[in-house]
Amino acid sequence: MKHFITLDAIPDLNNAVQEIRTLKKDAFAFEQLGKHKTLGMLFFNPSLRTRLSTQKAAQHLGLKTMVMNFSNEAWALEFEDGTKMSGLRSEHIKEAAAVVSQYCDVVAIRAFASLSDKQKDEEEQVLNNFARYASIPVINMESATAHPLQALADAVTIHEHTLNKRPKIVLTWAPHPKALPHAVGNSFSNMVQRLDADYVIAQPKGYELDPRITKNTPLIYNQEEALEGADFVYAKNWCSYQEYGKILRTDDTWMLTAEKMKLTNNAKFMHCLPVRRNVVVADDVLDNSNSLVIQQANNRTYAAQWVLKQILQNG
Ligand code: CP
Repeated sequence: MKHFITLDAIPDLNNAVQEIRTLKKDAFAFEQLGKHKTLGMLFFNPSLRTRLSTQKAAQHLGLKTMVMNFSNEAWALEFEDGTKMSGLRSEHIKEAAAVVSQYCDVVAIRAFASLSDKQKDEEEQVLNNFARYASIPVINMESATAHPLQALADAVTIHEHTLNKRPKIVLTWAPHPKALPHAVGNSFSNMVQRLDADYVIAQPKGYELDPRITKNTPLIYNQEEALEGADFVYAKNWCSYQEYGKILRTDDTWMLTAEKMKLTNNAKFMHCLPVRRNVVVADDVLDNSNSLVIQQANNRTYAAQWVLKQILQNG
């Protein structure tokens, strides 16, 4: 593995999940692998889980970490080629990426979607330009369109809790007061499409994800119907993709409740966190023993550790 920008970097997802579960049993087994090496972590957006779990993963591998809140501590970056930099942007990505490559052996980056410029978001300007101009491997810690570390951890969590051979997995849109990106829903869909599972996505009209992501996945516009017989229910908000960045509804009809969970096959509840209680999901769902949200957060460490291990072993 050179870079880890999307799940496409993993040729065999099932094998990766098995290896992550083995790694979890002996987290310090590869403690020497990262000795005298440094992981740089650049955040253009806030984080709790990604920051701490990736740092912990690095520690397990003997890596040192350097963390920078790029959005407010670094010089504002210019990404356009051949531009006259007479405005507010002080440093070009060409120098920034090359300089970070002098101090670090691997760089991990978080850079969310703007939700105002669909084309730029889909070009993954920050991630792809770092990958282009850095001489070291680049890891995606959630970009404009993808959150593969989250999806990899979710694959492990689903694997750990799958009782029947072919589970039904439902991704359901849920309400939120802010416009949120599509990255988690995109990567979750990419991941589940590679599992041996029945997968459906439930969303109100106007909230369909990018059809290049959903592909042949059934899209259901009635949440109760989608939840029937589900073994896993993953709730997540995202803004409209078609009317890019817009919030189309503000009512709480799609909030996930204990009453709705009764329609399922005693389903496990999943969410990537952070989650707004009693907006996205009711307290009694989150506080129920079927909620896997803390296990998901725990698996973030081992998913990140597996990715770092692949990159370090690649030399
Ligand atoms: N799920 C997730 O990525 O959490 P953070 O935004 O806190 O890193």
